[in-house]
Parts: sequence; structure tokens; C-alpha cells
Amino acid sequence: MTAKTNDAPLLDVADLVVDYRRGRHTFRALKGVSMTIGTGECVGLVGESGSGKSTLGKAILGLADVTSGTIRFDGQDITHLKGAARRSLAADLQVVFQDPYGSLDPTMTVGQILAEPLTASGVGKAAARATVVEMLDHVRLPADTVTRYPSEFSGGQRQRIAIARALVRRPRLIVCDEPVSALDLTTQAAVIDLFIDIQRETGVSYLFVSHDLGVVRRICHRVSVMYQGECVETGPNERVTRDPEHPYTRRLLLASPVADPARQAERRRSRLGLRSPSGPPVP
Ligand SMILES: Nc1ncnc2c1ncn2[C@@H]1O[C@H](COP(=O)(O)OP(=O)(O)OP(=O)(O)O)[C@@H](O)[C@H]1O
Ligand SMILES: [Mg+2]
Repeated sequence: MTAKTNDAPLLDVADLVVDYRRGRHTFRALKGVSMTIGTGECVGLVGESGSGKSTLGKAILGLADVTSGTIRFDGQDITHLKGAARRSLAADLQVVFQDPYGSLDPTMTVGQILAEPLTASGVGKAAARATVVEMLDHVRLPADTVTRYPSEFSGGQRQRIAIARALVRRPRLIVCDEPVSALDLTTQAAVIDLFIDIQRETGVSYLFVSHDLGVVRRICHRVSVMYQGECVETGPNERVTRDPEHPYTRRLLLASPVADPARQAERRRSRLGLRSPSGPPVP
């Protein structure tokens, strides 16, 4: 896996702070997060539940208000972009969520779902149809998929449809928020391979959010680790997922399943001996 990075990163997030309002209080979900993603690069974002992974994805997509810091996309400051300017970014910046059922309109055929972002942006019907067929081919679904409805597909196939929809406008960056977490292991592996193939074929960049270090190990060039609203470690995949520096990442690594029973037993022993930074042994 080699990243085709240009000099200037495609995405440049600097010192990002996001606060959520909770009644009369505010909760700081991101406490000054910085990261970059190059063209054709996949950067993984791992961390426990509530660490702020989705919040970072939402801020990049313009779905969470930013308190301070900047988000630059291809050199442009998009931190507070709203309205038409934000909508025009949709061609370049797309998303794939965990639950493809919730994000696919059950009343529309797959053909309509995939053509809609194109026709809404002014593409003619014939050209849209041709692009839809091309995208179905990208995600390895047969062309007759266009006449069928989302409910007729398995979870893995539905996620392929969601990926095709994210691809139709030929984006430069896709925020993938736990895109394989709802799938069984075999389907998960096939969809990860698909993400890798699509990146090779199109040069698209990914921010790949997952709580599973094993998943990011397979797909990402670099990995950032989130812990309680901060990015505690960033580095090349191999180093972060096999020899992490931060104590939290080490615990995350110990918690991720391994196939080899001997290694697993070794890990279990070292997990029991390893203490968390603030006290009790990690469960
Ligand atoms: N709309 C919101 N209003 C208030 N608090 C929120 C909101 N969205 C998220 N939070 C809080 O912000 C923190 C970060 O949430 P976020 O969804 O980014 O975590 P995450 O790392 O994606 O977790 P998970 O792995 O469970 O998806 C959590 O404590 C969460 O409760
Ligand atoms: Mg999340």
C-alpha cells in the first residue's frame, strides 16, 4: 500500500475544537485535533466509543459546528462553509455511514438512488444512467441492480450500493464512518477489499473511522488514535497498529482479536499485567 501524496494535503485539519450544547452546559467533544489526508491516501481514525471520531467526520462534512480551529480542503478554508457554498462541496466530499439501510430511501429503486445526486446537480438523464452503470461495475454489482429496491439486498450488497452512491459524483474524499462495522466478518473482508480496489482505481482519499484496529490495519496508510476528544497518536499503519507509542493505543491493540491462539494467550497475559494510565488494570 503506497499513498500517492502530493505536497499539499487534500485535507488539513488544524487545532479543531467542537463543543456540543447539553442544556445549559457545553461538552467539548474535540479538544484541538489536527490531522492531514493526502490525495489517494487512507487515514484511519480509531478510538473507543465517545472519543470523538464521528464528531471529526461530521465537522469535516459541515454537520457539526466548529468552535475554533480550521478545516482546509484542497487549500480552501471550509470550516464554516454554509448553504450553496457547502452544497457545491458535495461533489468533492462524500460520506458512507455504518447503516446502509437508514441511508438508502426504501421507496426508490437503486437506479433512482444512484442517479439522483447526478440529475440534482444538472447532469442529463442519459449521462446519469451511464455513470450509474459504471459505478455499479466499480462496486461489483450487476447492471440489473438498477431496477431493484434496497430491501431486496443483503447488508453487504446494500453497503456496496451506499458506496456507489458516494462515488457517483467522483468525489476526492470520502468520510467512511464505521462502514463495515455492521457486517459479518466475511462480508466485512470483501467490502474492505472493495474500498481498497476503488481507491486504486479512482485515487479517492478516505477518512476511515473504525473502533476496530484490525480493520484499519488492513486498509489504512496512516492511523490516528482518538482518546477523549484528543488525537493521542498518529503514524504509519504498521507502526501504530503493531508497535504503538501511546498507552491507550497499546490497550486498544491488546483488546483487538487475533487469530493465533498462542499469541492471544500471550496478549491476555500482558493485558492482565498492564495498567491503565489512571490506575486499575484494563478489563
Ligand atoms: N449532538 C450531540 N449533542 C451532545 N453531545 C454529543 C452529540 N454528538 C455526540 N456527542 C458526544 O460527543 C462525544 C463524542 O461523540 P462521537 O459520536 O464523536 O464519538 P465516537 O468516537 O464516534 O463514538 P462511537 O465509536 O460510539 O461512534 C460523546 O461523548 C457523545 O456523547
Ligand atoms: Mg461514531
